[in-house]
Amino acid sequence: MKKNVQAAVKGQEKLKIVIATKNQGKVREMLNAFRELPVELVSLADLPERYDEPVEDGATFQANSLIKAGYYQKQTGMACLADDSGLEVEALGGAPGVYSARFAGENASDADNNAKLQQELNALGRETSPAAYQCALTFIDADGRVLTAQGFCRGEIRLEARGENGFGYDPYFYVGERTMAEMTLQEKQAISHRGAALAEMAVLLRGYFEECGPVMA
Ligand code: IMP
Repeated sequence: MKKNVQAAVKGQEKLKIVIATKNQGKVREMLNAFRELPVELVSLADLPERYDEPVEDGATFQANSLIKAGYYQKQTGMACLADDSGLEVEALGGAPGVYSARFAGENASDADNNAKLQQELNALGRETSPAAYQCALTFIDADGRVLTAQGFCRGEIRLEARGENGFGYDPYFYVGERTMAEMTLQEKQAISHRGAALAEMAVLLRGYFEECGPVMA
């Protein structure tokens, strides 16, 4: 067991975990989910070094989160937590799926991706479609120990955008009569794919620390 894990177990210091994302929306959700664990989360944007991005060529969210976690763990030498997530729209045969971040092309903005989503639904003459968000998380520590968690959230994509919160496809993703962009961070986290995966990961991390002795509050 590495020294910093032992220290975290004894409550002396926090285990530093690099989050393999620059997406501030995801960072906020992760900070909130792990607020009671003895961990310090730093995002790639917080590190002074700039790393090339790995090729995310996995066929599933789980495979891509493993690629990212393994890559940035090796690059930084720190424990790493990676998220891979996306939207699956029934009317589009499950697209954009693992291509959610680059639906409208490499370096597409959220606005570009949402415009493409509207175009595709319009082209089919659809105003709504059942949809789901999926999230896979992989944690890898400096000893190569791997923890994985997954979550999903069912909803509906509509053409009308509502709300200012969240990120990505949230203004178009309805759960009942509200979009995820109309929810507070806490409300979204209570029902979202990432909220579910993070809750599972928080339990796994608690066990990870507890395995080594009595732990934190
Ligand atoms: P990733 O960074 O490769 O995991 O790409 C995830 C992409 O899926 C994001 O860029 C968003 O377009 C979309 N996405 C994932 N989770 C959410 C969410 O909670 N709300 C809105 N869009 C999401």
